[in-house]
Amino acid sequence: MDGNGRWAERRHRPRVIGHRAGARAVNICIDFCLEKRIQALTLFAFSSENWGRPEGEVGALMKLFMNALEREVDELDRRGVRIRFIGERERFSATIVQRMALAESQTVSNTGLQLNIAASYGGRWDITQAARALAMDVAAGRLTPDDIDEAAMASRVALADLPAPDLFIRTGGEMRISNFLLWQLAYTELWFTDLLWPELDAVTLQRALDHYASRERRFGLTGAQVAPSDEIPE
Ligand code: FPP
Repeated sequence: MDGNGRWAERRHRPRVIGHRAGARAVNICIDFCLEKRIQALTLFAFSSENWGRPEGEVGALMKLFMNALEREVDELDRRGVRIRFIGERERFSATIVQRMALAESQTVSNTGLQLNIAASYGGRWDITQAARALAMDVAAGRLTPDDIDEAAMASRVALADLPAPDLFIRTGGEMRISNFLLWQLAYTELWFTDLLWPELDAVTLQRALDHYASRERRFGLTGAQVAPSDEIPE
């Protein structure tokens, strides 16, 4: 969700105003996913590296985060959304951690949109914690080093129970992944737009889906192997 700060700076407003506008764009995005019956949406709300921003900005983001948790969870629950947080949550205040746990337990049995909020998250952190979990299983004798394969790793990274993301959308004009779901994005289609996150609307999201629909996903195979067959099944 990139571009909140620039959106505000272009209007000669403090960056926090951009984050507030960004929070509104989150709702537009969730509405769109619900309408299109998209299975899962993962939002990169706050990266491991974002903790290094000026204290005032981090504090304002925490307030925004807390307000969103207080205000939005009941309505999301009513709409069948299951909320989950991925990231190093121990770095948040006890009140926020408690609110996150509450939002997760309140919505745990919802089967509509799976909304994952990546907060204090980094793809490198994710891979590292999966490697540590594997090492602990080996140390405890539950696994041998030979048991460590891609499936073992995949089952220990965040969102292991969901399919890998089909589409990655980055706003704000930068052409990089910036430590998002590094493991999970291996074969994800990437889509970039110069629009800033607070400018996001349903038309832009539809453009991203149209782009996705035009892609041929080969997963390392040849075009002929993945092309739909003309043969009429018997
Ligand atoms: C990146 O834009 C955005 C962030 C670091 C924060 C995003 C957080 C929210 C929108 C808060 C609400 C979120 C939820 C899920 C309730 P930037 O500040 O890096 O923009 P810039 O590149 O223009 O400076």
